[in-house]
Amino acid sequence: MASSFSRSSLFFLVGAVIFFFLLNTSLAEIRSTEIRSDSRSTIPFDEFGFTQSGRLNLTITRISFSNSKPQLHLSQLGFYLCTRDSWAQVVQQLQDGDIQCPLRSQHIKPVFNFNHLKPDHNPTLHSFEVSDASVKVSDANLFTLLFSNCVPDLEVSMDVHSVMYNFNPKTGQLDFLSAGKTCLPLVYFLFFLAYLAMAAVWVYTLYNNRLTAYKIHFFMLSVVILKALNLLCEAEDKSYIKRTGAAHGWDVLFYLFSFLKGITLFTLIVLIGTGWSFLKPYLQDKEKKVLIIVIPLQVVANVAQVAIDETGPFGHNSDTWKKVFLLVDILCCCAVLFPIVWSIKNLREAAKVDGKAAVNLMKLTLFRQYYIIVISYIYFTRVVVYALETITSYKFQWTGPVAAELATLAFYLFTGYNFRPKVQNPYFAIDDEEEEAAAEQLKLEDEFEL
Ligand SMILES: *[C@@H]1O[C@H](CO)[C@@H](O)[C@H](O)[C@H]1NC(C)=O
Repeated sequence: MASSFSRSSLFFLVGAVIFFFLLNTSLAEIRSTEIRSDSRSTIPFDEFGFTQSGRLNLTITRISFSNSKPQLHLSQLGFYLCTRDSWAQVVQQLQDGDIQCPLRSQHIKPVFNFNHLKPDHNPTLHSFEVSDASVKVSDANLFTLLFSNCVPDLEVSMDVHSVMYNFNPKTGQLDFLSAGKTCLPLVYFLFFLAYLAMAAVWVYTLYNNRLTAYKIHFFMLSVVILKALNLLCEAEDKSYIKRTGAAHGWDVLFYLFSFLKGITLFTLIVLIGTGWSFLKPYLQDKEKKVLIIVIPLQVVANVAQVAIDETGPFGHNSDTWKKVFLLVDILCCCAVLFPIVWSIKNLREAAKVDGKAAVNLMKLTLFRQYYIIVISYIYFTRVVVYALETITSYKFQWTGPVAAELATLAFYLFTGYNFRPKVQNPYFAIDDEEEEAAAEQLKLEDEFEL
């Protein structure tokens, strides 16, 4: 069992690492998209929060059409920027029949109309030369870059390369991070320092209690260190994107550490939940099964996360990946709760047979607290953070990641504090009075089936 378990996890690990390196490195806020024989009337490309001094550079290459006489309708095709509110107005105008094509609406910000295209030297191919467009954006807002094709049944092929950035007049530098995300490198770096301090405190605690420390305490140290490294890579990745618009390989390291951190954190929750090395030295078969389910699911979740991040908000299949991620994430979160529930049940049963009611009550209380904290942590980082990201304005897009990181920090602190190695085992320092009171309470709980 043990050997097949480690072999399968090794297999997944190697597979995931290969996957990360096969990925073509992220183009981040500079995005290239290939459109091939596409007849969609509207294609969204990317979203960006501009400040008062924003700019969009757009390069369109390898343009060709399915229709033999595209020259007739070129003005019906084009790129433009649109905010969410103005898009609602455009849709209203289309519904009312005021306009036939979004390109005619006064609510959009035109970027490039195809009637400026110059035919290629070879007219039989219906293809066109490279086209560049550069527009200044001076109204600070969250804009989406869209393409509309208002000619029925006309299929378009092209390569689109878009660069969006803000100019920071204070520093004189370009900033390729969207307006609400520009402080994220600093945020991640500060959290990295927090985890570094936490790891230092933990090493100190382990050293002082080296006689009472269990294996799991060293595992907890590795989880904190991986989390710190993950944050450092994320800070460096984001700061590189901020300066150059591209990730330069930092994203690969970031994904690698995210993956290791995700696996170790879930494993830790399961191990603590089972009471491994606190209550018993070995895992039961059903507890190992939980790990065997959770670890591959984490691999899938990470692959989905990479696919979502790399393809951008409107990328190919990005909706499917989001659904996969959500499903897998929910499954993982549910799976890690089982061992805690089993432990609580076992402790309650043990309390009835061996006379040590006070000890068992203490452990029981600790495990119940842990159960509630795990649920709150999962709920907060999934639901509350999602809500925060959805309802806050684009200028405050950093609040979602900050809330998630704060909740994670609190969760690490709680886990570390409650399951820290202790100088003297408090379970033995209990007098008879406390013992009786605990026995009484356990009996009461039994009656009410709490
Ligand atoms: C965008 O285009 C403008 C005008 O062509 C140019 O001056 C600027 O350097 C370009 N910016 C980037 C980041 O390529």
